[in-house]
Amino acid sequence: MKTVTLNDGTAIPAFGLGTWKSPKDAVYEAVKTALKVGYQHVDAAWIYQNEQEVGRGIGEAIGSGVINREDLFVTSKLWNSFHAPEDVEKGCKETLTALGLDYVDLYLMHWPVAFKPGTLGPKPEDLVPLSEIPFSATYEAMLALKEKGLVKSAGVSNFSVSKLKKLIEETGVVPAMNQVELHPYNPQNELLAYCRAQGIGVTAYSPLGSGDRPESMKLKDEPPLLENETVNAIAAEEGISPAQLLIAWAMDRGTVVIPKSTNAGRIAENFSAASHSLSERARTSLDNIDIQYRYVSPDSWFISGVTYEGESFWD
Ligand SMILES: NC(=O)c1ccc[n+]([C@@H]2O[C@H](COP(=O)([O-])OP(=O)(O)OC[C@H]3O[C@@H](n4cnc5c(N)ncnc54)[C@H](OP(=O)(O)O)[C@@H]3O)[C@@H](O)[C@H]2O)c1
Repeated sequence: MKTVTLNDGTAIPAFGLGTWKSPKDAVYEAVKTALKVGYQHVDAAWIYQNEQEVGRGIGEAIGSGVINREDLFVTSKLWNSFHAPEDVEKGCKETLTALGLDYVDLYLMHWPVAFKPGTLGPKPEDLVPLSEIPFSATYEAMLALKEKGLVKSAGVSNFSVSKLKKLIEETGVVPAMNQVELHPYNPQNELLAYCRAQGIGVTAYSPLGSGDRPESMKLKDEPPLLENETVNAIAAEEGISPAQLLIAWAMDRGTVVIPKSTNAGRIAENFSAASHSLSERARTSLDNIDIQYRYVSPDSWFISGVTYEGESFWD
């Protein structure tokens, strides 16, 4: 499996299994199937509310000799309601207990947004101003988890260039990873270039267009990425499926990619895309798709517009 080397020397498998929206019973089977097929990287999060079942799948795979813990890379994420520095370890330990692990390989701050402790959002009154809990204070508490051996690497998610700059300036530390939405409708070239220049690894989430998001998170008439004409035509030319093409494109850009599936056939299909080499024509065709669309946004947390604390959330 191709790996990406992070700025702390850690090698992360460039392809992994996403688990957001995966129902509990299905994710347990999906993780077991994926690890059997050859996946070595699972992307989890406290807020997905299925870490226990993800952990059960991992535990069984390790127990039955399918994979060793050292060959498996597990990512998880600190939820917004654990941003107070004194709550960070609690959030991490809840994840570790659910997963049944002593450590995670990579721990990310899920969003640069703080909620009141004990709340899941999305209610306007759940938001805590960044002046009260700056994300740099949260990140410093996450770095302490490395010292305690609870996490091997630390990083962030959903950080824009300006938020990354602020984080680096305030903590003096360059995060190992920024996990963001990336696909041909939202290629974020500027963010990618900045991360490359700073030595920040980038993970592409929702690489297939996140078609199974709850209806409440969808805008009417949103463009389904997997049905895009160019994606379908180029996939046919390359002799692979549209999903495989999107995965190969993400890996070709040097990003880590974590497509979600709970379907055994699609789990295997996605895995085999990780070894596909993209032609120059495929690369340029996907690079030049001229549609801009972001599927995942914090709109539903009343960060609408999308402005947050006086500036655009994504700038
Ligand atoms: N950090 C963050 O804030 C954040 C936000 C969003 C996502 N993520 C992470 O990124 C992962 C992936 O993103 P996502 O779940 O939003 O969406 P995604 O991976 O872009 O798309 C998932 C959808 O694609 C379908 N699918 C999977 N393989 C397919 C194939 N070969 N052909 C056709 N359809 C296929 C899945 O259905 P089946 O399951 O039925 O196959 C599901 O409906 C998440 O699960 C999560 O781990 C992180």
